[in-house]
Amino acid sequence: MTRDLPSYKYKPPTTALAVFRDICQRLSSSGIEDAPAEAELILSFATGLSRVALYSDNPELSDRALKVVEDAVRRRLRRVPLQYVIGEVEFLSLTIKVGPGVLIPRPETELLVLEVLELFREGLLPQDAHVLDIGTGSGCIGLAIARMVPSCHVTGVDVSASAIDYARKNRNLNGVKNFYPLLGSLFEPVKGRVFDLIVSNPPYIRTDEIAHLQKEVSGYEPVMALDGGRDGLDFYRMIISGAAGHLAREGVISLEAGAGQAESIAEIAKAEGFSPFRIRKDLSSIERVLIFRRR
Ligand SMILES: C[S@@+](CC[C@H](N)C(=O)[O-])C[C@H]1O[C@@H](n2cnc3c(N)ncnc32)[C@H](O)[C@@H]1O
Repeated sequence: MTRDLPSYKYKPPTTALAVFRDICQRLSSSGIEDAPAEAELILSFATGLSRVALYSDNPELSDRALKVVEDAVRRRLRRVPLQYVIGEVEFLSLTIKVGPGVLIPRPETELLVLEVLELFREGLLPQDAHVLDIGTGSGCIGLAIARMVPSCHVTGVDVSASAIDYARKNRNLNGVKNFYPLLGSLFEPVKGRVFDLIVSNPPYIRTDEIAHLQKEVSGYEPVMALDGGRDGLDFYRMIISGAAGHLAREGVISLEAGAGQAESIAEIAKAEGFSPFRIRKDLSSIERVLIFRRR
């Protein structure tokens, strides 16, 4: 249970810069690492002004904006993720709405999408490809592919009703017509259908690691989006074995992997008749994106 924080009232000066300094001080003294960046985002969220306008005009904040700031800071002090507080995140130039019940898209997942786009550019996937995004969550992966390859057809599946609600909301918000979110587990909602590409950022954290993640993650993000089973690899087994019956002959599987998982996933894929076509490292040199084709 969370304790109510003592009441806090902003006293003048309540200009943007004075409030900025106050937010920074409160966040950093509670151990939040990037307090200045978070303070800027909270101020922009509360005022609707850009960073540049906040710094150059240093406006006086309205009572309403001060209240929004105060609510946001209090939620952050309880370690609610900043993206849930603000309610959205940018993913490859798309605005993606997020909140409790859906995973916050991570920057490394952008690499998964960029590698998929490379496959289209190389002609390894047709422009009118049928794409399946398993565990679509907020829809970030499927939406980004559908936006950038307008003649392809992307189906996003998720077992969480809350995630599918967000995926639909994000499709409408971004005006993407060729993305179709479906509720259900793994391949169940697409029985009998065949795809040119199966893409997924599945849950891949080992069950016993979840409690040790940052409080923002373990305390607020849905366990269903994180838990990959005892060795973290349950979903890779299920997706790769299910892919055999749902992938076109020349089709491609593209998966995001956690640190140190690439080799084991490649073993799983080999046993199902797939071989690694490409493995891409992220900026931290982690083998993050794995692409498989039939042997
Ligand atoms: C790591 S999250 C990825 C979300 C989103 N694709 C992203 O990259 O931000 C994994 C997603 O898989 C979903 N999921 C878990 N079990 C599933 C299942 N059996 N079938 C379909 N989706 C599932 C979760 O609800 C969650 O949205």
